[in-house]
Amino acid sequence: MKIINEIDKMRVYSRIMKKDSKSIGLVPTMGYLHDGHVSLIKNARKQNDVVVLSIFVNPIQFAPGEDYEKYPRDTARDEEIAKGEDVDVIFYPNKEDMYPNGYSTYVEVESLGEGLCGLARPGHFKGVSTVVMKLFQIVKPDIAYFGQKDAQQAIVIKKMINDLNMDIIIKVLPIVREPDGLAMSSRNEYLNKKERESAIVLYQALKKAEGLFSGGERNAKKIIDSIQGLIKQDLIKTINTAKIDYIKAVDMNSLEDVDEIKNEALIALAVSIGKTRLIDNIIVGAQND
Ligand code: PAJ
Repeated sequence: MKIINEIDKMRVYSRIMKKDSKSIGLVPTMGYLHDGHVSLIKNARKQNDVVVLSIFVNPIQFAPGEDYEKYPRDTARDEEIAKGEDVDVIFYPNKEDMYPNGYSTYVEVESLGEGLCGLARPGHFKGVSTVVMKLFQIVKPDIAYFGQKDAQQAIVIKKMINDLNMDIIIKVLPIVREPDGLAMSSRNEYLNKKERESAIVLYQALKKAEGLFSGGERNAKKIIDSIQGLIKQDLIKTINTAKIDYIKAVDMNSLEDVDEIKNEALIALAVSIGKTRLIDNIIVGAQND
């Protein structure tokens, strides 16, 4: 496994692979790898000749006061995991090379990045689409892998690819969960024991919503109220720093609120426990439902 830190070396590597007609799969991450990331890597490994894992805690997607400084980092462990999954290259750019003094170019996907998580995290998706565009330009992947865990992020990236006519396939893979249902996240690390135990209500509430939908409920407000009720009862009442940011049923493509769920809808939520912000979602009404 190669470790590449320099942007130019990464470009040369990709150019050589392309000349050799090798397909490149890219898994962009911020490191502190868990099984959610590993699932993306495994898929990339199956579908490409070469797998590049990028690890970069991207400063421009963190708003002032967010957790950029204390975002968990463990390079040695990440390298072990990547080696075990037969990754060809870890690309670790540094922030001075990615954003040198005078850096001034950004990619912004209008409207899709403004609602849901964009409201509480202004500028977040602009930071994400910009860094992903830069990684795509440097690594030149054929396929790039993202998780459904960050549903809005995946939709924003797909729109960017489409709007800018980029020749890259975006694959979005299902959420990987802990045995008790909590969606895996590098930020789960921040939770203390009591918070971690209470956090399972997020998935339980989404499962309850799925149950209502399967039972024929199509009214979004009723479904949202049921999720909210359970979260209030099992989390907000027991942990006084817990707060619901949003619970929404939205259209899978436009991310606009839906009142009656006719086709497929994304039910997404964000809850903060102290300074830790957790997100989760489910899709209801998918064709195979
Ligand atoms: P990060 O949070 O490290 O996540 C990297 C990728 O792993 C994302 O596509 C994310 O959706 C996916 N992922 C995270 N948890 C998952 C889970 N439990 N199940 C399945 N997939 C999961 O998302 C980012 O980094 C950054 O915003 C990035 C795209 C790298 C741009 O900086």
